[in-house]
Amino acid sequence: MPCNCCEVTDHAFTEAEARLEIKNYRKRGPARQTKLILEAIRSLGLKDAVLLDVGGGIGALHHELLEDVAREATHVDASSAYLKVAKEEAKQRGHNERVKFIHADFTDIAADLPKADVVTLDRVVCCYPDFRGLLKAAAEKSHQAVALTYPRETWYIRIGFVVANFFQRLQRDPFRVFLHPVHEMEALLNDEGLQKVSVRRLFVWEMALYER
Ligand SMILES: C[S@@+](CC[C@H](N)C(=O)[O-])C[C@H]1O[C@@H](n2cnc3c(N)ncnc32)[C@H](O)[C@@H]1O
Repeated sequence: MPCNCCEVTDHAFTEAEARLEIKNYRKRGPARQTKLILEAIRSLGLKDAVLLDVGGGIGALHHELLEDVAREATHVDASSAYLKVAKEEAKQRGHNERVKFIHADFTDIAADLPKADVVTLDRVVCCYPDFRGLLKAAAEKSHQAVALTYPRETWYIRIGFVVANFFQRLQRDPFRVFLHPVHEMEALLNDEGLQKVSVRRLFVWEMALYER
């Protein structure tokens, strides 16, 4: 779907990067922050769950969860290159019939999607300016839980993001990274009826699991 977010993210998340990520994933398994989401979701003890993965990238979350916890998944992504690579991997794993891939800005199409048991956003809010619209739509689509990772509000991330955005501007690249206020994200999810039940932290990333 040709939306502004898709144009920006198509440019930012290229096929070359997606190929490198899938190679690393095949060799080493999911990234550390992704493992935190996987552990959090597995702690819910679900079986045959329906998963909605927003901005799933190469699809590590559904590749993993379709092995035990999930029955089916929908992967919505603004990057066509990442979707292509995720689709190829799903096919290799024999999951292609169980994953629906949608190329779109999630906030544009959320209203047309059915609800899922669990909605995931792994390193997605930091790529999107309107975290309120994104999280509200994600919360509205979740029957039971929302699990997400986002950058921690630390001095070194703040500096890192200012520097990263400075170079983006210099290169006239419209893609920006965003350090959204964690307490505002939490307040919004609380208003949507979700409570934080676990938090885990790495040097850069924080993972939070919210349950209804
Ligand atoms: C940093 S990557 C993370 C990919 C994957 N979740 C991971 O952790 O490896 C961010 C992803 O979110 C997608 N994305 C960002 N904003 C989006 C939106 N509004 N709707 C759908 N996808 C979005 C991008 O296209 C990209 O694939």
